[in-house]
Parts: sequence; C-alpha cells; structure tokens
Amino acid sequence: MNAPATAHDLFTDVPHTPGAPKRDPILVADNVVRRFGGLTAVDVDHVEIQRGSITALIGPNGAGKTTLFNVLTGFDRANSGHWTFQGRRISGQPPYRVARSGMVRTFQLTKALTRLPVIENMRLGTTGQLGERAWRAVFPWMWRRQEEAATERAEELLERFNLAQMRDEYAGALSGGQRKLLEMARALMAEPTMVMLDEPMAGVNPALTQTLLAHVKDLRAMGMTVLFVEHDMDMVRDISDWVVVMAEGHIVSEGPPEVVMADPVVIDAYLGQHHDAPLTEEDEERQLTDIDSTLQRTSAGVEHADIHDDTHDDAAATPSGPEAR
Ligand SMILES: Nc1ncnc2c1ncn2[C@@H]1O[C@H](COP(=O)(O)OP(=O)(O)OP(=O)(O)O)[C@@H](O)[C@H]1O
Ligand SMILES: [Mg+2]
Repeated sequence: MNAPATAHDLFTDVPHTPGAPKRDPILVADNVVRRFGGLTAVDVDHVEIQRGSITALIGPNGAGKTTLFNVLTGFDRANSGHWTFQGRRISGQPPYRVARSGMVRTFQLTKALTRLPVIENMRLGTTGQLGERAWRAVFPWMWRRQEEAATERAEELLERFNLAQMRDEYAGALSGGQRKLLEMARALMAEPTMVMLDEPMAGVNPALTQTLLAHVKDLRAMGMTVLFVEHDMDMVRDISDWVVVMAEGHIVSEGPPEVVMADPVVIDAYLGQHHDAPLTEEDEERQLTDIDSTLQRTSAGVEHADIHDDTHDDAAATPSGPEAR
C-alpha cells in the first residue's frame, strides 16, 4: 500500500459506520463499559483511532465523552473492557503507565497547579525519569543530566507555545487560554505518540482560538495522533480528518466531518440538546473532586516511578481546587 498523501487519504476506504476498522489503528477498544449506579455512562462495543490523524469525538452533554477519556487513560476504572495502544494492552493500567506508553491527555477543566511556577508545572509532565532516590544516591550525575534535559525541553516548549515570558510566574497568574496552552505544552513533555484533548478550546478567548487550532494541527504535522473532544462544530469541521459521535454512552456515527454532520442519527442525538450548555456547578465540582482524588492516588504511583522531583511531591498531591478552573 502506498503511503497516503494527506491524513485525509488515510480514511479513503473506511466505511462510515460506528466501530469502522481503520487502516492502521493506534488505539483499539472493545466492550468498554462504565456504569455509575444505574446509569451506563459508557457502553462502547468497538472503536479504532487511526494513527497520524486528528479525530474529533463529539456528542451532546452527558454522552460519555469525558468518561471514555478517563477510562482509556486510567483516570477511571471501567466495569469491563479491553483496549490496546500500539498493539499493547493498556486497559487497567494507571495513568502514569499509560502516559509512559505514549498516550497522554489534557483535562476539560485545566489542571495547572496554580501555586507552582509555570516551569515546574512543565517539569511535572515528564514521564520515565530515572531519578529514583536510590538511583540518585548511586548515580547522581545521571539524575542531574535528566533534570537538565527536562528543563531544556520545558523551555523549548514554553517558547513554542508563546509562554516563555511566563516561565517563572505562578500558573495561577495565567489567563484561561494560556492555561489551555500550558496544559497542551505540559502534555508534550512526555514526548507522546498520541494526545487526547478534552475540550481544548472551551473558555478560550477568540484571539487565542486560532493559535490553539494551529498547535493542534502542528501535533499532526509532527506525526502525532490527536483525539479531541469539542462542541464547536466549526472547529471540528476545520481541523478533523474523522469524526466519532457518541450519544448515551454509545458510538452512533463515524465518518468525515461533512458526512457525520449530515447524518440523521447525529442530528437526532443533538435535537433538543443545548449542547453548548455549560457544565452544571455540581457536575464541575464532581469532576474536579474525581480528578483530584485520582491525581492524589496516582501521585503515589508516580512517587514509586519517580516521575518528578520529591521536592514537588506536596504540591503535586495538593488538590488544586476551584481556583484551578
Ligand atoms: N463520577 C461520576 N459519578 C456519577 N455520574 C457520573 C460521573 N461521571 C460522569 N457521570 C455521568 O455520566 C454521564 C456521562 O458524563 P460525561 O462527563 O462523560 O459526559 P460528556 O460527554 O463528557 O459531557 P460534556 O459534553 O458535558 O462534557 C453523565 O450523565 C454524567 O452525569
Ligand atoms: Mg466532558
């Protein structure tokens, strides 16, 4: 098979049906179910994400998009399901292991640790650092070299995302849009193969929207796979090669943007839905609490793996609270 000329060509022969097999899928998930009491938030039979493409995940509020992200990246536990990334099983693995395998995500509500400087936020995004205490004691130079490399990478990314001038400011001093940029830049610290963005444009000042869109396209240009959740259909049409639609936990449609948006099933799913309605305060509180407790739990795992310097442990484990929004 000849190499496709553009990401769009990757989908030439792919049927426009839910769960459609892809030419070269990077992520494959089967029978993923997540229930909350009597509510089935996610019930996905099969989905494949094409390597090297930008795929949009759309659907009305409460469709299960964030829950699916949480489950696939280890931030939440599925009731059942099996999924592989680059052919390796990652279902059931904690977030830091998923990140280490090359799949990283950002949050619908930005998680920048407001009381840490921007540069330290960036350094927290590194995975796979060797600096375990024992190693540090035995081979201090090895650890130091890694710290230096991480700082260098962080500075390069801050430059690229136009945040270099904010390097030593507290993340709390950033605007909403700058925090979205920081989230994206921090995700890249892990040198991922696939980036999952949960509403990267939500709440971003229109002046920054184009910049963010350009950054997402850059990720694809650099060979990364992008899966993103977005409510703004203009943006979906503008940047995605393929669209996957969720409603009531299921995947109900798949195809190129123009095909999916004309699909009666999709129009039905959105009918009567105020899909731009903001999260309720309760939903927001619940999501923040969930994410904070997962981060706290995983920062214990992270401690073991020594993903970050121990001088940051307290800050990393501190719930960032409502001011992190
Ligand atoms: N921790 C939880 N406990 C109870 N119910 C939950 C929990 N997390 C999500 N839900 C419910 O699961 C369903 C799917 O929620 P989810 O946040 O995944 O939707 P979404 O598609 O991301 O919506 P939005 O577009 O508003 O962000 C909703 O009915 C939500 O209320
Ligand atoms: Mg969501």
